[in-house]
Amino acid sequence: MAGKFQDLKDRKEKAKLGGGADKIEAQHKKGKLTAFERIELLVDEGSFEEIDMFVKHRANDFGLDKQHYPGDGVVTGFAKINGRPVALYSQDFTVFGGSLSETHAEKIIKIMNMAMKIGAPVIGLNDSGGARIQEGVVSLGGYADIFLLNTLASGVVPQISVVMGPCAGGAVYSPAITDFIFMVKNTSYMFVTGPNVVKTVTHEDVSFEDLGGAETHASKSGVAHFIYENEIETLLNVKRLLAFLPQNFMDKPEEYEFDTDALSPDKRLNGIIPENPNKPYDMKQVINLLVDEKDFFEVQSSYAENIIVGFARIGGMSVGIVANQPEVLAGVLDINASVKGARFVRFCDAFNIPLLVIEDVPGFLPGTEQEWNGIIRHGSKLLFAFCEATVPKVTVITRKAYGGAYDVMNSKHIRGDFNYAWPSAEIAVMGPKGAVEIIFKKEITQAKDPDKELEQKLSEYIVKFANPYIAAERGYIDDVILPEETKIKLVKAFRLLKTKVDKNPKKKHGNIPL
Ligand code: HXC
Repeated sequence: MAGKFQDLKDRKEKAKLGGGADKIEAQHKKGKLTAFERIELLVDEGSFEEIDMFVKHRANDFGLDKQHYPGDGVVTGFAKINGRPVALYSQDFTVFGGSLSETHAEKIIKIMNMAMKIGAPVIGLNDSGGARIQEGVVSLGGYADIFLLNTLASGVVPQISVVMGPCAGGAVYSPAITDFIFMVKNTSYMFVTGPNVVKTVTHEDVSFEDLGGAETHASKSGVAHFIYENEIETLLNVKRLLAFLPQNFMDKPEEYEFDTDALSPDKRLNGIIPENPNKPYDMKQVINLLVDEKDFFEVQSSYAENIIVGFARIGGMSVGIVANQPEVLAGVLDINASVKGARFVRFCDAFNIPLLVIEDVPGFLPGTEQEWNGIIRHGSKLLFAFCEATVPKVTVITRKAYGGAYDVMNSKHIRGDFNYAWPSAEIAVMGPKGAVEIIFKKEITQAKDPDKELEQKLSEYIVKFANPYIAAERGYIDDVILPEETKIKLVKAFRLLKTKVDKNPKKKHGNIPL
């Protein structure tokens, strides 16, 4: 029997070596860790339980019958992160470049199916040359099986993709269907076709990094939600993200202890809004003063910066924050901001994460570029997302809430639960100057002194409309509050809303304007 036990140990040792010492060294030389090293960094110590380490591919063509590596290029199993179970797979670039074979796909599918049954998040560490070329269509079928399961698992359990190497061709669509994509600067890239194909088809000369590196996807395409300098930092931030999320759609995010007695008015909030309503300020200052321990985990921080989205805790409760950023494009809603906001709102709603909206928005961005590219279609995504969301939804209007953007940003009319405004709020169809020039056009142009008349009408309009009280008189705003009281109000509101139940009509699924 001792021989059999030793045989098992030897087999496991061999499986741990992946493609062998040389390939591991080559991986390290590129600044990349191995599949196992990554898992060790990510999960709670000693918690990883690997399955399917003896799985082998079934291909015989192109000499593959003579090349077998136990595990077949992907390490799969279950572990704990922050003390809670997760399912994970980690592609092993040292084995056939991490390429996806029939059996490699089956391993991923097996842990995904289990994750859905037990209600645990799925984390994929991607480092792969794509479809295993020698297996042809069988490998493509494997990808399609994964895409299907990514889609079926969407909204059931959180799915996180960590791209830590190449991710090319149709393979990019698995991460793209998942909820969040992490990338590592300089060592990971994603594209549908690589630089060589681009050169042939469009005659553009572009590097791997410029075409599909982390910076490109964080700032230009919006494909990556988080990017970091190296793999260690990346994996630590995956843990940080998970701490804000529940395990599945029936679960609620973990609540931290919070000392309510220590809450007091925060005067620093009173000094943030400038006297001049056209002067920008940094909305992140407001956010940092409202969230527990100034711990705001921003999502897509370099993309569509006119809207800020991210996770935080308020009174120990996990919340998703959506805020306009007056410092960038005056906080206007454009196509990219609308899509970014909408996707975040839908994620939070799918996973029972309450929403806090902090609003200072002058409206939707005008212009042919926006209109021709479909601001109507894309702006309505954000509207749809807020309308459809049934999680607790609280809004604080700090300054401007103009036009359609007032309606869209979680107004009372679309089921905002508690809507507060600061005294500096201006809730109106449009800004004073634009409004006065339209409604008093004749009076102004025919006046003896048009400038004086404009000034006169402006001050009338500002007194009448550039304030929160008309909305408050109607009950569209539940209360006008001092900035310093905001956190206290929010903690109370989110606590009260913990037992909120709201439903949408029965249907197969809605038809969000895509
Ligand atoms: C089989 C592969 C492979 C693949 C890499 N390898 N990609 N084997 N199928 N798709 C193997 C290599 O032969 C090599 O084996 C080892 O992995 C490492 O590859 P290198 O090229 O030496 O590494 P590197 O220089 O770092 O380049 C990595 C790479 C390159 C950029 C990923 O290998 C590459 O371009 N591969 C092909 C990528 C690709 O076009 N894939 C198909 C995409 S389409 P040895 O034995 O020499 O170490 C796709 C469709 C999905 O995936 C469709 C879903 C619907």
